[in-house]
Amino acid sequence: MGHRYWHIQWTPYKKRYDAAVAVCLVAYLAVFYLASRLVWGGAHQLSDEIILMRATATAAALMLHIALSLGPLARLDRRFLPLLYNRRHLGVATFVVAAAHGAIAIGYYHGFGTVNPLLSLVTSNTQIRSISSFPFEWFGVLALVILLVMAFTSHDFWLEKLSSPLWKRLHMLVYIAWLAVVVHVALGAMQSEHSIMYPVLLGVGAVWLGAIHILAGTREARREVIRPRGDGWIDVGRVEEIPDAGAATVSLPGGGRVAVFRYDDKLSAVTDACAHQGGPLGEGRIVDGCITCPWHGFTYRPQDGCAPAPFTEKLATYALRVEAGRVYVSDSPFAPGTPVEPVQLQEVPHAVA
Ligand code: HEM
Ligand code: FES
Repeated sequence: MGHRYWHIQWTPYKKRYDAAVAVCLVAYLAVFYLASRLVWGGAHQLSDEIILMRATATAAALMLHIALSLGPLARLDRRFLPLLYNRRHLGVATFVVAAAHGAIAIGYYHGFGTVNPLLSLVTSNTQIRSISSFPFEWFGVLALVILLVMAFTSHDFWLEKLSSPLWKRLHMLVYIAWLAVVVHVALGAMQSEHSIMYPVLLGVGAVWLGAIHILAGTREARREVIRPRGDGWIDVGRVEEIPDAGAATVSLPGGGRVAVFRYDDKLSAVTDACAHQGGPLGEGRIVDGCITCPWHGFTYRPQDGCAPAPFTEKLATYALRVEAGRVYVSDSPFAPGTPVEPVQLQEVPHAVA
């Protein structure tokens, strides 16, 4: 229990989150099954395997889109933050559903011959020069392998072992997985079923993801204008622009970001990167006097950047000053855990206009 990752526990919130994912998934599969039975009745009746393969395929693709949407949505609107807290469980669930789809597909299309189904999957179709007959399943396998690696390494144990930057880079592969799914469907289902539904759904998914990523990125870039005064102090903005019990963030000229928190008529500044996994602390809130990370709930005292006992994580702290209602933060950090006297707003003349 001495490791840094031990206090990520199965909290009641995570249990509710997982239960909600499970209920939605079962409801989706049941509705998909019943609707397919109704739509394709009589002579066009589909087998249970085909319906299940399609139900799990579309569920996995939908879950992947939701998982990819949560980050930018939470940046655009803080009300989505609670959905971000347990995104890793959603990712693991996506892998399980996608694996079920892959297993049904392999069993159904490759399981009845004399050749090993996995060998048959790789060798039965090698028409890589054809678009209509391309072995689209290879892209499904690629996506599934990426989701498997991500699910396997999702626990904090691997975050600790691999280091935060490498772990993050590894998990960025999810965008390759998404692209592989798009190609998988475009070359597979879209070629065999000439329904307008496939291109429309793929297009809507791509436009939606592209739009919210660009929107969140540009909003962040606009917020992150650096206003150095040239004397080692950076302009954060007006005091009243910092939400109570929340933070304003600002980039440093040398890289990295600082989060300036306003709480109980005081201001304190710490690095914007959580010591756990680099989560954006500036998007968190002050809860019970502590900065609470929006990603997995690690907490830190604003005045010294230290996690309350028994935890030992520490954040770099920064000096602050307020002049004529504007907040300025020093561009050089103190060592992690260094106490800095908070700015008492009531003692600063004209702190708030
Ligand atoms: C071992 C890996 C996989 C195999 C062997 C596989 C195989 C298949 C097959 C045979 C089809 C039917 C295509 C058709 O109707 O012409 C299909 C469709 C589809 N797959 Fe996969 N797949 C795999 C992984 C994935 C993954 C990881 C995802 C998403 C996360 C996915 C999403 C889809 C979707 C959305 C469809 C279209 C739905 C439909 O069948 O109508 N597949 N796949
Ligand atoms: S608690 Fe995990 S990144 Fe902050």
